[in-house]
Amino acid sequence: MTTVHYDSALSDAERRACLYAGDLFVYGPTASSRKLVELGREMVAQAFAPLDPEHAQFDLPVERYAEILAALKPAFIHHPLCKELLPGMLGELGCDLERTYFDVPRMRTATSDEYLSTGIAYAFHPHRDTWYSAPFCQLNWWIPMFALSAQNCMAFHPHHWSAPLRNTSAEYNYQEWNRTARFAAAAQIGADTRRQPRATEPVRADPQIRLLPPVGGIIVFSAAQLHSTVPNTSGRTRYSIDFRTVQLDDVVGQAGAPNIDSYCTGTTMGDYLRCSDLQHLPREASAAYESGPPQAVVSRA
Ligand SMILES: [Fe+2]
Repeated sequence: MTTVHYDSALSDAERRACLYAGDLFVYGPTASSRKLVELGREMVAQAFAPLDPEHAQFDLPVERYAEILAALKPAFIHHPLCKELLPGMLGELGCDLERTYFDVPRMRTATSDEYLSTGIAYAFHPHRDTWYSAPFCQLNWWIPMFALSAQNCMAFHPHHWSAPLRNTSAEYNYQEWNRTARFAAAAQIGADTRRQPRATEPVRADPQIRLLPPVGGIIVFSAAQLHSTVPNTSGRTRYSIDFRTVQLDDVVGQAGAPNIDSYCTGTTMGDYLRCSDLQHLPREASAAYESGPPQAVVSRA
């Protein structure tokens, strides 16, 4: 069973407990999430001008399209306004800004009709972020920039919340990935040769959950949820913004979702910045994570 909470009045502590148990949360737009989407939309409009960003893919050679994204995405990630709007949004949604840490927001693109689904516009196969060295207390926040449809959104695969999958996460180390593959994203057109953690047995993708919040609305989910990019057949490029958070008490207490099948090493703990003053997590809090996640509990029937 998966519970989806809409505009929940639960406290942040109650919400985290539900998320670590596999629930999903959806919120309508907040003042700051609206501004974040406005900023993103202005930037894509400018990048693709005079073309309409949702349809620009149909008028551009794929190399040119990838080139535009390669400039646009880092400009968004490092835009100074993002570091105000993300904490603003988290505060509006009940997070304690002294104890909540976020990483920089990514802008994602899912092009339609398999135009470009590698590298800079990677279409994510079913995965857990915890296969990519995310801690089990990490929460993901996902915001559509344009109207979504069931043909261009993301999907959750709740069967695998509790059912482990054989996968290649043991080969993944975040620190190693940062040294090598990440910076090669824009060059990956056609085939993506970077080794990403993936399932090595069939995924039970159905039943799947496709949530369609309005523009500027927010989906919140645990980094341990199995999720994927829905193959985009909508005829429109999907643009979305996502970022991750951890909460200090849970980092220190090693709280979070259970680990059923993540074997990666390294940690993303060094990436998060405190909402109130952009300081990194105290070293003593994150040190326990450096060797990788806690032992996976494998229980195959
Ligand atoms: Fe993900």
